[in-house]
Amino acid sequence: MIILAVESSCDESSVAIVKDGKEVLSHIILSQIDIHAIYGGVVPEIASRNHVVHMTRVFEQALLEANVTPKDIDLVAVTKGPGLIGSLLVGINAATTFAFAHQLPLIGVNHLHGHIYAANIDHDIKFPALALLVSGGHTELIYMKGHMDFKLLGTTLDDAVGEAYDKVARTLGLPYPGGPIVDKLAQDGKDTYNLPRPFLDREAYNFSFSGLKSAVINLVHNAEQKGEKVRTNDMCASFQASVLDVIIDKTRHASESFDIKQIIISGGVAANKGLRNRIYNEIPNKEIIIPKMEYCTDNAAMIGAAAYHQFLIEGALPNYLLGGESTLNIENK
Ligand code: KG4
Ligand code: ZN
Repeated sequence: MIILAVESSCDESSVAIVKDGKEVLSHIILSQIDIHAIYGGVVPEIASRNHVVHMTRVFEQALLEANVTPKDIDLVAVTKGPGLIGSLLVGINAATTFAFAHQLPLIGVNHLHGHIYAANIDHDIKFPALALLVSGGHTELIYMKGHMDFKLLGTTLDDAVGEAYDKVARTLGLPYPGGPIVDKLAQDGKDTYNLPRPFLDREAYNFSFSGLKSAVINLVHNAEQKGEKVRTNDMCASFQASVLDVIIDKTRHASESFDIKQIIISGGVAANKGLRNRIYNEIPNKEIIIPKMEYCTDNAAMIGAAAYHQFLIEGALPNYLLGGESTLNIENK
């Protein structure tokens, strides 16, 4: 089954052609990072306007690179949420129009399901599985009994982990997105700032990162007021050590409490080198799968990967309409 998948939930306009949920025939991502970097974060109105400008070209390029025509496509899939509403609408309109014009079935895919199924592109998810989903908008521990079967074990009560990375970076005067640069600078720093390990010993699987973020902001402001210099590398290393201590510990705890065959780490923060270096050593007795770097951050291939299994289980919509349902929750299908 050949799926044309569309993703536009934030600042990436992406279209991929995916065969049987696994084989990525083409994968086009037009990132707007350079535009939003000027503002220190994603500006929703600018994001949706840029999706409008680029989406048709991204569709054309994806078909061209996969060497397929609309006649070869069996199903159209599009991210239906969660995400920035204006950005989502552009992808949904483009996918709906394409499906309507070529009389193809259409399905709406939950963005978070996509992040998890990114791991199924180069690996095979084995069930029951535990997924740690860490991105700019989400921090979730999810138990999966089988395909498309999601049970939320815990989530962040405030900031998502990627969001905390971005805000800490901004406080340190580092460019957007903050995750990759904080990760890089942390490699040459030492965990000397003695930051808190939030929620390490309570709320079982829930997370909280706003206190940690505030601790960094306070230290930086105090240093500025005293005319002292912040050791940027050490601050990045301290922040990263705190984040990783918490997310690795909670993942280990969940992996021991549930009978699981595999741990999936996904979402933009799964690109983190520190996390990749530590997690295999610190949870040595479970198989851990992490998507390739290009499938960790937002992309349409992951939507195609999830859409395949969703279609096998639920089928497509009888008409070309999406929406009408809340898409805020991982357990929402
Ligand atoms: O999954 P994603 O592309 O978008 C959302 O759905 O949110 O994740 C983007 C987030 C950003 O907050 C970015 O700073 C973070 O992932 N990120 C990282 C790294 N690469 C991207 N965070 C930590 N370390 C990284 N290497
Ligand atoms: Zn995402």
